[in-house]
Amino acid sequence: MNSTNCQADALAQTDTLLEKFREDVLEGLHSSPKRLPSKYFYDKTGDVLFQRIMASPEYYLTNCELEIFQSKTAELAQTINSVNGDFDLIELGAGDATKSQYLLKYLSEQRAIFTYVPIDISGNILSILETRLKAEITDLDVKCLEGEYFEMLSKAAELSDRRKVVLFLGANIGNMEPQAASVFCRELRARLKPGDLVLMGFDLKKHPKLILDAYSDSAGITSRFNLNLLHRVNKELNGNFDLDQFEHYQNYDPLTGACRSYLVSKIDQEVLVDGQPVHFWQDEIIYMEISQKYDTEEIATMAKQAGFVPIGYHTDSRNWFLDTIWLCVDSY
Ligand code: AVI
Repeated sequence: MNSTNCQADALAQTDTLLEKFREDVLEGLHSSPKRLPSKYFYDKTGDVLFQRIMASPEYYLTNCELEIFQSKTAELAQTINSVNGDFDLIELGAGDATKSQYLLKYLSEQRAIFTYVPIDISGNILSILETRLKAEITDLDVKCLEGEYFEMLSKAAELSDRRKVVLFLGANIGNMEPQAASVFCRELRARLKPGDLVLMGFDLKKHPKLILDAYSDSAGITSRFNLNLLHRVNKELNGNFDLDQFEHYQNYDPLTGACRSYLVSKIDQEVLVDGQPVHFWQDEIIYMEISQKYDTEEIATMAKQAGFVPIGYHTDSRNWFLDTIWLCVDSY
């Protein structure tokens, strides 16, 4: 493909993404209750705000999982090596591989034979990651796959018939409703073979106040993170949300483990999005995100129902976060 074709291709893809964003936003704002999909939090500003959330004193998740990857590297590697054979280590939503890099380094030093296959929708992030990892870990074999998780997983299966070890870290599974998370695990299992492994990160149920504080930080970064999506709608969909007329509200229900974020309209108001009027009553909410918390029993049930057998449990020193390793079994 020549460079003009490449540019045309990239523009067509941007148009498709924008059209999908428009459809999802309008559908969400015309639903009852109103909602906006949290996957759209991550534009340039959203990425920066999320980095700041992860560095905030209240948001414990990242440090907990980092502690597991730093201090339990040998145990993680041992479970991965408990199944024989060379492998592809596939990471869904690799980002900058902050946590997985410890495992990659350890496996390389142990002379394990594997290819690291980071999957991400951002080609830019992948090329930065590849350059950095190759400089830091001698002889690391990296094969980047840019695109949607399941599409790229199928591609990875076509590229090699080595066994697969799939990482899905950061409690990203928590951003799906529990029912959707179960479907996701079943779909993941359907793309893997007996003997393959999945290493998944879950945020565990704990004192409700610790959880609530992690999502309503004192510096108000999570609030800005949520409001930024309205700003994005203004910018990309010609909206006219007045951000001062909405406020962030977080709720955690210890009975169900659902931690949900909302934006609440402070007044009765009408907003235009792409020329379409959307009415808000005073105190009406927009449901923005779920960050589901689990206990170990619920996680084991989810694994079993999807056709996996848990073979590794690795928690941080406070037992706040769990990285569990699941083996794909024959019958499910
Ligand atoms: C990416 N994800 C796991 C984060 C979480 O904890 O649910 C997103 C987030 N939203 C607000 N703070 C962090």
